[in-house]
Amino acid sequence: MGYGTPIRILHSLLALSMLTQLAVGELMDVPEVEDEHEAAMNWIMPAIAHEGEHHAAAAGPVVETLGFEVHEFLGLFIGGLLLARIILALTSVPGAGFRDLLPWLFADGRKKLGEEIKAQMAGWKQAKLAPPEEGETVARMVHGLILLASIAMAITGSILFFGWSQTTPQTEFIEFIAETHELVVGGLEALIGAHILAVIIHQRMGHNIIARIKPGA
Ligand code: HEM
Repeated sequence: MGYGTPIRILHSLLALSMLTQLAVGELMDVPEVEDEHEAAMNWIMPAIAHEGEHHAAAAGPVVETLGFEVHEFLGLFIGGLLLARIILALTSVPGAGFRDLLPWLFADGRKKLGEEIKAQMAGWKQAKLAPPEEGETVARMVHGLILLASIAMAITGSILFFGWSQTTPQTEFIEFIAETHELVVGGLEALIGAHILAVIIHQRMGHNIIARIKPGA
């Protein structure tokens, strides 16, 4: 099953903006006011403390770095794209629906997942992937997990956008949200890594799946 035009356009925008966002997120300096304990730790372990742009609590607001500002605004843009993807999932656009993205929520989806894993496991062990015509439930589930993890990033990121303080140390709640944001990104990077690896393997095996998602193809 191919994808409708809106899904194809959205995929190009999402792939480009998310890969940029992940790179910016890893490289940027986070403007953060430290409490006294953290300031002492950074003085003792400057090589380990990574965030940069630290000031003591008394020194006033911390300057926002360009990287952090780009991260904030790209994050809001990606949030908008994800909202559009959720709305598309409620329409009849081909390849868009929740049944495809979250097969494990439905009895027939779980049955298809079980059958596909059983039929294709031997190939996966030899780094071979079957063409989409022979079943795409597992691949679509991975796409669903990527979207779920992206939505979790967008929700925690939006809370941080409004709650992050540049004048005082963060509250416990904001610290918790920031830790969740960082934890989820590890899973998201692993999923996107697996996604891109699967695309490369499919292309090398001649399945030409890029034609299924490329706008205008
Ligand atoms: C160079 C990077 C990428 C390439 C080459 C690529 C390629 C593809 C291809 C070929 C498909 C169609 C799979 C099929 O035949 O069913 C697809 C689907 C998908 N990809 Fe990517 N992708 C890339 C990056 C990303 C990123 C960064 C994300 C993260 C948001 C992503 C999320 C998805 C999703 C969610 C789908 C399913 C379409 C949908 O339901 O919206 N991809 N991708």
